[in-house]
Amino acid sequence: MQEHWPHPPVRVERRPVGEAESRAANGPDWDRYADEYQATHGEFLGDAGFVWGPEGLTEAQAGMLGDVADRDVLEVGSGAGQCSRWVRTHGGRAFGLDLSHRQLQHSLRLDDQTGVRVPSVLGTATALPFRDASFDVVFCSFGALQFVSDIALAVAETARVLRPGGRFAFSVTHPTRWMFPDDPTEAGLVASQSYWDRTPYVEVDDQTGEVAYVEHHRTLGDWVALLTGAGFAITTLLEPEWPEGHDRLWGGWSAVRGRLTPGTAVVGADLLAGADD
Ligand SMILES: C[S@@+](CC[C@H](N)C(=O)[O-])C[C@H]1O[C@@H](n2cnc3c(N)ncnc32)[C@H](O)[C@@H]1O
Repeated sequence: MQEHWPHPPVRVERRPVGEAESRAANGPDWDRYADEYQATHGEFLGDAGFVWGPEGLTEAQAGMLGDVADRDVLEVGSGAGQCSRWVRTHGGRAFGLDLSHRQLQHSLRLDDQTGVRVPSVLGTATALPFRDASFDVVFCSFGALQFVSDIALAVAETARVLRPGGRFAFSVTHPTRWMFPDDPTEAGLVASQSYWDRTPYVEVDDQTGEVAYVEHHRTLGDWVALLTGAGFAITTLLEPEWPEGHDRLWGGWSAVRGRLTPGTAVVGADLLAGADD
C-alpha cells in the first residue's frame, strides 16, 4: 500500500495471507506495474544509481554496504538493477534476483543502455538459488522484504548465503507508517490503525476474488527479533529526513508527511561468525 496505488478493479482488505499466495499475487502484480514503475521512477533512481528510498538518500551518502570493491554482492528484489549497477561501477560483483520477469526485462534494457551488466535471476527471497556462504553483502532497497509473508525464512536464507561477518542492509517502509492512511496529503497524518496490527494489506481482484497484491508489516521490535534470532548483530538504523526543497511525490511519500514523520527505515546488520554453522 505504501508504494502502490491500487489497480482497479480491486478492493482493499486486511486479512491473513500466506507465502504461496503472496508470491502468486505479487509476481504478476509487479509484472503489470513494472513499465509504469520504471517510467515514473527511473529517472529519480538513475540507471546506475543507488537510492535507499523516496527521500533520495544515496548509498554514497549512507555507506550501508561498506567498501564493495572486489566483494560478492546480492541484491534481493533488484527490479531493474539500478543499485546493483552502482555497485558494479564501484568494483563490486553484484548480482540481482527478482520475482518479476518484467522487472528483469527492464534490467536487461538498462544493461544494454549503460553497458554495465548485472547478471540477474528470477526467484524469490524465500528460496535463494545460491550455495551457502556465497556473498559478502546482501541488500534490498525496498525490494522483496515487505512483500514476503514468511519473513523468518527470507532472513534465514539471507544468513545462509552470506559469509560469516557478511553484511545485510535493507530499506523498508518505516514501520510507523503502517498506522497512517497511504495518502501523501495532510489526511495521511492522522493515525487510523494500530501499529501492532500485522494483518496484511491486501488488494483483491473484484472480478475473480483472487488476491492481486499483498504487503506485510513488521514493527521495529519484530525486525530486531528477526535479525538477532537469525544470528545478525544490528549495527545501524537510519531514518532519512525529508530534504529541504525535495518536493517529489512517491505514492504516500511527500514533503507534507516527510517533514513530520519518517517514511523509510534503512537497517544494517552483520552476520556473526559461526551464526549459520
Ligand atoms: C519497490 S520495488 C524495488 C526494486 C528496486 N530495488 C528499486 O529500488 O527500484 C520491489 C521489488 O521487489 C520485487 N519482489 C517482490 N516480492 C519479491 C520476492 N518474494 N522475492 C524477490 N523479489 C520480490 C518486485 O518484483 C519488485 O521488483
